[in-house]
Parts: sequence; structure tokens; C-alpha cells
Amino acid sequence: MLKDRNILLIIGGGIAAFRALELIRRLKEQGAGVRCILTEGGAEFITALSVAGLSGEKVFTDLFSLTDEAEMGHIRLSREADLVVVAPATANLMARMVAGVADDLATTALLASDKPVMVCPSMNVEMWEKPSTQRNVAALEADGIICIGPDSGSLACGEEGAGRLADIDLIVAEITALIGTGARPLAGLKALVTAGPTLEAIDPVRFIANRSSGKQGYAIAEALGRLGAATTLVSGPTALRVPRHVTRVDVTSARDMLAAVEDALPVDVAVCVAAVSDWRPETPAGSKIKKNSGAPPALKLVENPDILAALSAPSNNRPQLVVGFAAETENLVEQAQAKLASKGCDWIIANDVSPDARGEVVFGADENSIHLITADKVEAWERARKSVIADRLAHRIADALTRKAG
Ligand code: C5P
Repeated sequence: MLKDRNILLIIGGGIAAFRALELIRRLKEQGAGVRCILTEGGAEFITALSVAGLSGEKVFTDLFSLTDEAEMGHIRLSREADLVVVAPATANLMARMVAGVADDLATTALLASDKPVMVCPSMNVEMWEKPSTQRNVAALEADGIICIGPDSGSLACGEEGAGRLADIDLIVAEITALIGTGARPLAGLKALVTAGPTLEAIDPVRFIANRSSGKQGYAIAEALGRLGAATTLVSGPTALRVPRHVTRVDVTSARDMLAAVEDALPVDVAVCVAAVSDWRPETPAGSKIKKNSGAPPALKLVENPDILAALSAPSNNRPQLVVGFAAETENLVEQAQAKLASKGCDWIIANDVSPDARGEVVFGADENSIHLITADKVEAWERARKSVIADRLAHRIADALTRKAG
């Protein structure tokens, strides 16, 4: 898929530099030519010898000699690539890119480049969250540079938070979508994804909600968009950034979500990942309910519309493929199979939300453990990061839709 494509990979100085080796291996497997610049910082973490061994090419470093410059000038180095990837991109390297500094081979090649540039940041969470770093990322994006990641999770420094280099799978998928061949099987098709929780008002200040973080749904929307689908993400309130390749419509309650979903139709595929509140208070109070008004208030609840069932019902507007989620803590597969039948959808992703061996819950986590259930099959997928599950699911959806079309 990356055959005859050339990538200039700039390896910055961070603990994630060793993961650049895996990236080189994966890009080569896809048929790409990979030429590397190892920065002075990068060379503190990995050796030019291992980079050369994997890339099969001479590695360029800041010890760039005049002989090198005569053989392969920094301009040629950047011009001969179809894409420049910086992974890992440190806070320092990004700051220098923003400022247009060209004081080493990496920044000079970046400045001389006339090709798309992708940066994959990786650093400590405090460094990532600093306003200066965030301003720099925004400036790079405004300059048309593609920023992938970082992921959140446990960091090499022992802290928790955002700052891990994005999954290598995800970086490869983004590179393939950008410069690969046959990489956009969903081009020309439309996708709809619901994600996040819904909030149901009790009074102007209180609401009923749930623990959905929206991460899995956002990753699925991004993956469908990456494969070329015009993707609408209808999202309840979350703390997440709008994913790449996606148009997001923000909603609050289940009824808002249904209205936004209906507005997005017709689509070819709908994936309902949202944790829609099953009930809502029948009549939200017009003003804040006071504590001193006697006995605790009784909440009279009424059922919310079932968006997945509504999308799945036979109609002229029914998507070709409707996928639902079933979050369960016990009898996962049986419950999910029952849900497939009761909702009328085509596939159900059974999501095991019981705490894992370490006692960690799936809500808000970065990994997920799922089964894909269709009318005649149950497939157990190995536990993986939500972005990896999303990418796999998007490919399965593309296979199903293109098979139907063909
Ligand atoms: O019935 P339950 O909530 O377990 O079903 C989960 C599936 O149904 C998810 O795909 C969820 O997005 C969808 N759903 C919905 N509207 C509701 C309730 C659930 O779309 N009101």
C-alpha cells in the first residue's frame, strides 16, 4: 500500500525514539522507502546503526559532513520524500519548527521541505499540557502540519497522562491514508457515529448522566473518516478534541441526539457507540429544586427514544449496515446476541466492561476488549488499544460495504 512511496523520517530525542524502529519496520513492510535523519537527541536513545539496519539506507545525523552534503544535500533529502514524518517529535523540536529555526539537519530539512509534514509528539504530560506546547501544536496545525497523537496512558517517566507516542498502527494508518494507494475504500460513502454520554436535565443545574468517555466512538469515527467516508460524529458532552477527518455535531440529551442523527441521514453505515441514557426525568424543574422544600424529590422517569433501534428499523432511509454496542459485565455474548435481535441491527460489538485483572474499568480507559457478533458468527478480538480496535472495525466495515456494492 506504500509501494514506491518515500518517507523521510526524522527521529527526535525522546524515550519513544526506540519505537521509531518499529515504525521503520512497518513502513518497509508496506513497501515504502524510508530514509532517516537521527537528531543529536535521538542518537542519545538509539544508534544510527540500528536505524540503518532497519531502513536499509544510510542514516543522516547532525554529524553531516561536507561529503554527505555533496552527495545528498538537505534540500534533496526533503524533496525526494513524498512525506516527512517527525516521530517522536519533542516539545523542543516542535517549538523550533514553529519559529522556523534551521540550526541542525532536521530543522533545515523541514524548512526546505515542499511536501506534507506529519508530527507525532511524545513527551512528559506536564510538557505536553504546557500552554507553550499547546500554542505550538496549534501553530503547526494552522501551518498545515498534521499532528498525530499523543496518546494518554502510563508514561516512561512513571507519570500518567497524555504524552505517549501514538500507536505505531495508527501512525502507519494515517501515513497510508495520506500517501498510500488503495487506502480509502470508503471514499464516496457516508458514515454516522454516535458517541459519549447523554445528559438528561433534572433541573437547570442537575442532570442524569453516565461514565462514557466517548473515546471508543471518537476513535471509530476517526478511523472511518481516515478510510475516506464522509463521517458525522454526533457526540454527547465529552472532554475530547474533534477527531481528524470528521464533522462533529454536539448534543446534550438523547432526544437531541436522535434529532441530530435523523438530520445526518441518509448514510451508508451507522455505528451507535453512545451510552444513551435509558430514561429522562419526565418534566425537568424550571428552577433549581431546593433542598429545604421538605422530603427528597421523587424523580419520575420516562423512557428515552432508542436511537439504535430507530436506525435499524426497516425504512427507505435505513443505512446498509447498522452496528450497535453492548456494554455488559456478565454473559457477554448471550446478552449481546439477544440485543442484536431485539434492536434489529446487523452487527453488535459486545464490550466487556467488567474490571480487568488489575481492577481497571473500561470506561475512560485506553484499551478495550470486544467480540464482534453478526447474525451467524461470534469473533473474539484480542484486547487492544481503542484506536487499534477502531481501525480494525473500520476495515471490516469497508470490506462489508464494498462486498455488498460489488
Ligand atoms: O439497550 P442498551 O443501552 O444496552 O443498548 C446499547 C446500544 O444501543 C448501543 O449501541 C447504544 O448506542 C444504543 N442505544 C441507543 N439509544 C438508546 C439506548 C441505547 O442508540 N436510547
